[in-house]
Amino acid sequence: MGADGAAGGAQPFVPARGGVAALRRAAVDCRGCPLYENATQTVFGDGPAHARAVVVGEQPGDQEDRAGEPFVGPAGHLLRKALADAEMAEGDVYFTNAVKHFKFTTAGEGRRRIHKAPSLREMTACRPWLSEELQRVDPELVVVLGATAGKSVLGNSFKVTESRGTLLYLPVAALPTPARAGRDGDGPARGLVATVHPSAVLRAPDRAEAYRGLVADLRVAARFLR
Ligand code: URA
Ligand code: SF4
Repeated sequence: MGADGAAGGAQPFVPARGGVAALRRAAVDCRGCPLYENATQTVFGDGPAHARAVVVGEQPGDQEDRAGEPFVGPAGHLLRKALADAEMAEGDVYFTNAVKHFKFTTAGEGRRRIHKAPSLREMTACRPWLSEELQRVDPELVVVLGATAGKSVLGNSFKVTESRGTLLYLPVAALPTPARAGRDGDGPARGLVATVHPSAVLRAPDRAEAYRGLVADLRVAARFLR
């Protein structure tokens, strides 16, 4: 490991130039951590190259892994419905994840693939992609869904319960990567809204109540964009 970049994180795979399309092309071949070995493909962010808002999830799920696109499974459907209910135009949104490969364990007769949360190590390895997406899309607003996304963007002390549903600000310099550290130190702040992950809504004992909470948080985001 190390010499071929297998444990060295995504940074060596990140192209110095180009927009998100260039990032997406390069990420196909990322071997910055071991997660590429068992997943079908890299699931990179998707949406307008200069979207007004970037929505950050955890990692692709089973269906995203097969389709190669973020938020196309059950959690994605719920998220897209919640965005509509919050009156946030889907056309303004670039969807991505903190980690770009599906992590899973298999169980049962059909070898069903069960989502497994990414480790801090994998989150750190994959973070250059997210950092570059945020810098190259350069949105007005970032929405983080759940703890993994929140920690990737805001640091390890982030807690959804403490931060959700209020308008925060994210300095551009909050996401330095080795190649760019210091470059954007004086840049403008972006808006940031944290909320729960849509799959937490799907698992909640009172799903209707959890869904209302998600929509209420997303309304804060929608208001910011108005
Ligand atoms: N959950 C996520 O966090 N991201 C996806 O793309 C799908 C489900
Ligand atoms: Fe690269 Fe991220 Fe996939 Fe790991 S999870 S191989 S760092 S794209």
